[in-house]
Formats: sequence, C-alpha cells, structure tokens
Amino acid sequence: MATSPWVTWPALTKFGSLGVMVALLVLAAERQELLENNMFDTENWQEKNADIVCDERSLTARMEDGTCNIQENPAEGSVHVNFGRNVDPASVYAESNSGNLLNPNPREVSNLIMSRGGDFKPATTLNFIATSWIQFMVHDWFDHGPRTDANPIEFPLPAGDVLGGGTMSVQRTRPDPDVSGDEGIITYENINTHWWDGSQLYGSSKEKNDEVRSFVDGKLKVDGDGRLPTEFFSGKPVTGFNENWWVGLSMLHHIFTQEHNAIADMLVANYPGQSDQWYFDKARLINSALMAKIHTVEWTPAILANPVLERAMYANWWGLGGDRDKRDKYQDDLDNLNNNLGQIGGLLDLVGIDNGLGDSPTGSLEHALAGLVGSRTPNNYNVPYTLTEEFVSVYRMHPLLRDEIKVYDIGSNVVDEEIALEDTRNGDAEDLLGDIGQDRLWYSFGITHPGALTLNNYPDFLRNLSMPLIGDIDMAAIDILRDRERGVPRYNEFRRQIGLKPLTSFEQLTSDPQLLADLKALYNNDIELVDTLVGQLGEETRPEGFGFGETSFQIFILNASRRLMTDRFFTTDYTDEVYTAEGIDWVEDNTMVDVIRRHFPSLATSLVGMDNAFKPWGLNMPEEYQDWDAQTKQNHLWVNGALRTSYADSEVPAIEPIDIGGLINSVLWKKVQDVTDVAPPGYSKPIHPRGALAKVKFVPSAGHDFTGLFQGADHGLLRLSVTGDPSDRGFAPGLALKLFVDGKRSENVSALYTLSGQGSNHNIFANELSNYVQAEVNETLGTTTLFSLVSTKPTLLVMSDMAKVKQDGSAVGSPKTPSQIYFVPNSTLKNNTSTGAHDFRDDLTAIPAGTKVYDIYGTTQSIRTSIWPWVTERYARERRNSAVKIGELVTDSEFTLSQFGDTGIFFKHQRYEDR
Ligand code: HEM
Repeated sequence: MATSPWVTWPALTKFGSLGVMVALLVLAAERQELLENNMFDTENWQEKNADIVCDERSLTARMEDGTCNIQENPAEGSVHVNFGRNVDPASVYAESNSGNLLNPNPREVSNLIMSRGGDFKPATTLNFIATSWIQFMVHDWFDHGPRTDANPIEFPLPAGDVLGGGTMSVQRTRPDPDVSGDEGIITYENINTHWWDGSQLYGSSKEKNDEVRSFVDGKLKVDGDGRLPTEFFSGKPVTGFNENWWVGLSMLHHIFTQEHNAIADMLVANYPGQSDQWYFDKARLINSALMAKIHTVEWTPAILANPVLERAMYANWWGLGGDRDKRDKYQDDLDNLNNNLGQIGGLLDLVGIDNGLGDSPTGSLEHALAGLVGSRTPNNYNVPYTLTEEFVSVYRMHPLLRDEIKVYDIGSNVVDEEIALEDTRNGDAEDLLGDIGQDRLWYSFGITHPGALTLNNYPDFLRNLSMPLIGDIDMAAIDILRDRERGVPRYNEFRRQIGLKPLTSFEQLTSDPQLLADLKALYNNDIELVDTLVGQLGEETRPEGFGFGETSFQIFILNASRRLMTDRFFTTDYTDEVYTAEGIDWVEDNTMVDVIRRHFPSLATSLVGMDNAFKPWGLNMPEEYQDWDAQTKQNHLWVNGALRTSYADSEVPAIEPIDIGGLINSVLWKKVQDVTDVAPPGYSKPIHPRGALAKVKFVPSAGHDFTGLFQGADHGLLRLSVTGDPSDRGFAPGLALKLFVDGKRSENVSALYTLSGQGSNHNIFANELSNYVQAEVNETLGTTTLFSLVSTKPTLLVMSDMAKVKQDGSAVGSPKTPSQIYFVPNSTLKNNTSTGAHDFRDDLTAIPAGTKVYDIYGTTQSIRTSIWPWVTERYARERRNSAVKIGELVTDSEFTLSQFGDTGIFFKHQRYEDR
C-alpha cells in the first residue's frame, strides 16, 4: 500500500491537550525548516536604497511608501519592491518560455473543474464577512498592478464553450521595470507595500496618503454621514486601494476608516495639543496593528478551526506582544508539557512523525508557544523581508465568493432581497450601502455562508467578469494562467519545494469519481502537470477543521509569522512609547466584534455571545449568560433565538402527533432537573412539539401578597402550544411561561386545560389553563403514569421557586406561593377565535403586541383529592372560587413561529418534591 503523502501532525489532537502541545512543536519545527530553506531574495537592494533618506519621523511612524521600517536596509518591504520566492529560483522556470504555458488550455480547466455551474457549495463554519475580510487583507499586502497590453496571451476557446468559437486573450502581468535580465529569473513588483500596515486604507505613496487624509486631528476624510468621498468617474471611494471593488470591500473600508477616526478621537482626548501628523501616525499604527491582530487571532482560527492552530495563532500574537497576562493563559500548557516530556517521544512515534526535533523540546516549544516573543528584535533570518509569488498564489481564494448576496432585516432569517454579486460592484456598492443600510448588510453577511474552497465552486459571475477598459474576462482561467506565467511551480513540484511529499496518483487527491475522470482527462493522466491552484483546491484530505489544505497552509505559516517577526512596529517598537499606552490597550482589548458593535450599535443584540465575528452569527450561550440581567437574556433568546430562526410563511412545519416513545425517562428527568433556558442541540419536544412564542410581561394586580416574581416581571417568554396533532388525539392546549431574573436562572411554569384536552374545539382560548390538572382515569396517553416515574404528584407543577426571587435577583425573606394558579383567557380573544378545525398558530400570530392574553388568578388553598370523584371536583371548585386575581399576562411582541420556539427554548418543570 502506498504511504500517505499527507502531514500527520493534526492527528495528534486526538491525544488531548498534550497532543495539541506536541503538534505545536511539530508546527514550530516545520516553520523553522521553511525559514531556513524556503526564502529567496530577488531584489537589488543597493539600487533600491540609493535614494532613500530615513528621517526622524520614520523612527516612530510608518512611512507612506513602506520605507525605513528597517533603517539599515530602508527599501525592505516597501512599495515597488519585487516579490521574493519560497521556491528555489533555480527551479523556477518561466512557463512562458517552456512551451507549457497553455498546457492544458486554461479555459478548459476553468470550464471542467473550476466552474460552479449554479451548484454553490457553502463553507458552513464561516460567514460571508470572512470573504470580504481576506480580500481586504490581500489589498493591504500585495497586488501585481495594471497588466500590460504588449504581446497578450492567446488561446483557443475549447470545443463546446458557451462563448462560442474563437480565442480568449489575456493581458500579461506587467514586467518588472528594473529587471536586471541576467539570471533569467522572472520577477514582478508589488505595487502595494509588503508590510502589514493598512496600506489598503492609507495608500502606498505620499500622494495617495494626502488624498485620503482630512488633515484635521489626524483623521481620514469622511462626509457628514461617515461615508467615504467617491471618485467622480468610477463612483468608487477614495481610499488607499480600490481595485476589484464590491459592496463587501466597501463595508470594510468604511468601518476601518471609522475605526481610524475613533482612535484619533481617543488620542486627541488623551494627548491634547499634538499635531495632526502626530495623531495620524499613531492612529495608523494602532489601526493597522488591530487589523493584524484580528486577522491573526480571529479570521485565521475561524478558517482553520483546529485547536492546534488556534493556539499557534494566539501565540503568534500574544507571544509577540510579550504581554504577561495573555501568555499566562498558556503557561499551564507549558507546565503540562514539561511534566510529560517522557510521553512526547512516544506520541510522535505513534503518529509516525520523525522524532528528530532536537534535544530540547521545550526550547522548540517556547518558540511554538511563545511564538515570536523571543524575537523581540526583528528577525528576517538574513533574507530581506518581502512577500512572495507563492504567497500570492495561495490567496487565490475566489471560490469564497457567492454569486449573490442575500439581504435580511436585523434579527431575521427570512431573505428580504437577493442581489446578484455582479450588481454590487464598483459604484453600485456605494448606492447599496446607502439603500440597504450598512448595519443590515453587516447582519446579512454575518448570517450567510461563503463558498467552500474546493474545485467546481468558482463563482459563475467571475468566469464572465466585465472589467472596465479591459472587457470580459474569465478569472478562473486567469488564476490558472497567472501562476504558470509567474513561474509558480505546478502542484507536485510546489509540494516538493516546500518540504511536502508529492502525490503519486490522482486518487490521493480526491475520491469523487467524476472529478477524478475529469482531472485525468484534462491532465493527460500526468499528476506532475496538475496546476498548483487545482491541487490546492482539490485536496480532499485536510487537517480537521481546516477550510483550506496543507499545501497552502505550509506557505501560510511561513509568511504569516514572517510578516510579524520582521516588522519593527510589531517587535521592538510595539511599545507604549511608540503606540501610546492607550494605543496598545486599544489593540489588545478590541476584537472585530467590538469594532462592529462600536460603529453599528443596532447590531449589539445580534452580536451577543459572539466570540468570533467571522463565524456564523446566531444564538450562542456563553458561560456568563446566567449573570446577565433579565432583559438582556430575554432579548438574546428572542432576537438570536426566535427571530433568527422564524419560519418563512411557506415553511411552517405541520403539527406532528405526540411521540409517546420520546417521553423516555431521560427526557423526563431533564425536564425536572435542568435549569437552562436553551435545550442542548438535538433535543426535541416529544409532546407540545409545535407552538408560538411571544415576549410577555407579568403585570401584577394590587392587593395580593404572593411574593417574588408574582409581584411583577417585565421580561418573560410565553409559549402556547397543543400536545400534538389535534386530528390524532383531540385539541389539548398548553402554556409555558418563563420569567427572567437578573443574574440568576429564570423561573418557569407550565399549564394545561386537562390532560386529554378539549376534544374537537380548536379555540386555544376556550378554557382556563392551570399548573395543576386532575389525573384522568381514561387518559389515553398514559402521561400520568409516565410522569409518575419522576414525581409522586405527576399532574402538579409547584411554583415555590418563583415566589423566592424577585426580578432584580434579590431573595425574598418569607416567600408566599400560590398552590394553584389559573390562566383565564382574555374574553375578546376567546370570543373571536373559531372553534372549528384550523391551525391555532394563525390565531396567535394575528395578535398584536401589547395585548392582554390572560388574567391570572391564584389561591392558597391546598390541593386535596378524594377517592370519590365528585368530592375531588368539589374541592377543585372551592379552590377556584377562593382564587384572587394576581396579575395579567400582556404581550410585548407579536407571536412568532420559529425553530427555536419549537426545539430550542427549554422550560423547566418544578416538581412537588423540589418545592
Ligand atoms: C468581487 C470580488 C472580486 C473581484 C471582482 C476580483 C477580481 C480580481 C481581478 C480582476 C484580479 C486580477 C486578475 C489578473 O491577474 O489579471 C484579481 C486578483 C486576485 N484576487 Fe480577486 N477579486 C475579487 C475577490 C477576491 C477575493 C475574495 C479574494 C480572496 C483572497 C481575492 C484574491 C485575489 C488574489 C490573491 C489575486 C492575485 C493578485 C495579484 O496577482 O497580485 N479576490 N481579482
């Protein structure tokens, strides 16, 4: 059997925390290898440095063109410097000259194995903000600039192409103007600074920088509504880099322009009397570092959702900051590893990893864990810092794009509008920002998925993209062609060059039979011919949680670290003195969630509990949930639970029959023991499966002396339901009420009319409901018997807990609890609701907010029963007659029908035994 070509370090995660540590060690060793073997310089520095003079300001500020970060080699990392290489230049053959440039035909590759063809494959662990974000970052890092008209690359359209016959013509990449021309190595310039310096906002030249600045208090130019000024002809914003513009990019440029200005405000408040230039320089440093941090510890762990990676990325950043507090988080890991040194070797052997990590695993671990903290002085490993052609190549992530954007109202999951992505480009993006509203767009991007980074998932619109002044282009064909043109090796050679094993068969890449057949046909059964992008997108074996495969990852770990460790402003000068103490705090204390919340307060509720803005927004239940105040908890469950999962009108599920088999012991025990507000995933309600949920208030009546929440609760949720399909066992209404408490668990009560219901009467308001119902001799369901498994009084729910606590969380000294309460339906609702067969949920969704739905009565008479049914009934009548009105239940919203209301929300039952 052929051995696997894939790296096995991720398999270590199955050994728990120690495995994660060992995997980090392997990762560090891999990075070290790459640093030593895979960095190649292609620049003539003497020439580049000739005219650069580093002034005083450059000691504490980023220069517009990226010069003087490294004072001894001031051109390093600056604009118009060549891309370096991660593969040996001697092995880089210009495909243009090798005769292989068009083999196979790039348009055929695009048609056959790149095309999405309407069959969108989502990346379900990410949201669409992640797509805009990475393009936003890429525009900070690099661009090859405008292409040249000279000598275009031309190739025939393959047979059967939708574009018909003829040829496709692609302009060449602009050649390096300073090419020395001797070694035959092809080089190209980066038209953006190579540094992680926010050049997509600030520009890569003094002229561009002057255009975007307001020159007042260090701020960037925006109009009265916080919008960026636009170019007269294109309608695109004036910002550092505005190519390939669409609405997702515009959202990010707007928010980080606003963030820059918020930072400038903070600086002006703390350091009055400084110059505009001083404020600008500091704000740029802080904003750029914040973006770099967000990318390192939020975007990357979202797309590579693997525990090893998360720690490695945290170490990259907080190791870098050298912040003791943050590093302490990992100190335990280090201790754990030190205590278990003996096991490490065994673990490595077990997963087949070469155990030659050197004699000092802890030393390597320091490097892995503490990341770049050891390199408090910038370290370029003796190769001047630049980004590389291979780095550009692995960020060809166009499949992340959708072909349309879906627009939702904040809090909703019902699509309000769909807009073709093509119609969100260039000047149209700015119109949409105004028409739709930036907050609705952020919400909409937060809950939709990007495309998965796989083959056959290339956006359709990009394969027929209209470019001003260029015409229609096929980006998939261009992506393939560019790598070949620039001498990025084909996939297998690429892997060899960066220390990975080459593949020996197509079967190692994918098991999809159609894709296999297409790949073999396209590449003439020659695995060596496979294009590097095709191989990378095709990798079916990926480390757990990884949104892209290990080949791209290898390039990524090298360059991601290098970008930080070579930059003076992320190492020696990442200090209070250079950034200001408030500036360092701003970087360290803010996340992408904070940034979005700061500029769009209307999204605060949608972001509750979100720890990573790039993961799909939804209902998260953070550990501290119980500590929140009553209103925040109610709002969270309502907006992120109910509203976000509400059914579209056409998708309301039918009411299922009761699932008696589902009333198993464990579910029943859960019902009486759990104190959560949300059921675990997979929990379903075996009885009362479908209902309607509304926000309610318990408005107390004067003059009764029941205590705690009976004295009023402003934040509750009411669910009205029936036990099961009424055509199965009759119409049996039920109610569940949850009242939230500041900083403590909620209190709940449920009520029924009777166990067996009200027969064919479909009016949900026909009868009073109560927390106590009498056992029934003929009850066909047998719920009494079943509930007897967990309680000696199976038809009673007690409410003593509700009387013990007030809404503000304070405890009641001498609680007084009603023994039984009665929910008496509002007579108008009762009289206006049909008794004939119909869906009761339609009655509920028609009720406006602010409607009293029930009067509530309570009694203190104890519940007595007799062996004589008529005596039991008399006791019941007496109790009812003794009850006094204690309050009203008034809706605070309309009723909604939602997945959360049907399967998510959980109402605890308080047993007689637990009173
Ligand atoms: C509507 C959205 C987008 C459009 C219209 C677009 C269009 C383009 C175009 C026209 C090029 C240059 C093609 C050439 O070499 O001739 C390009 C290059 C590139 N794009 Fe996109 N793109 C979009 C989104 C993205 C996204 C989401 C990513 C994700 C990382 C991305 C990554 C890249 C990269 C890495 C390059 C190569 C840049 C270079 O050669 O220096 N693009 N794109």
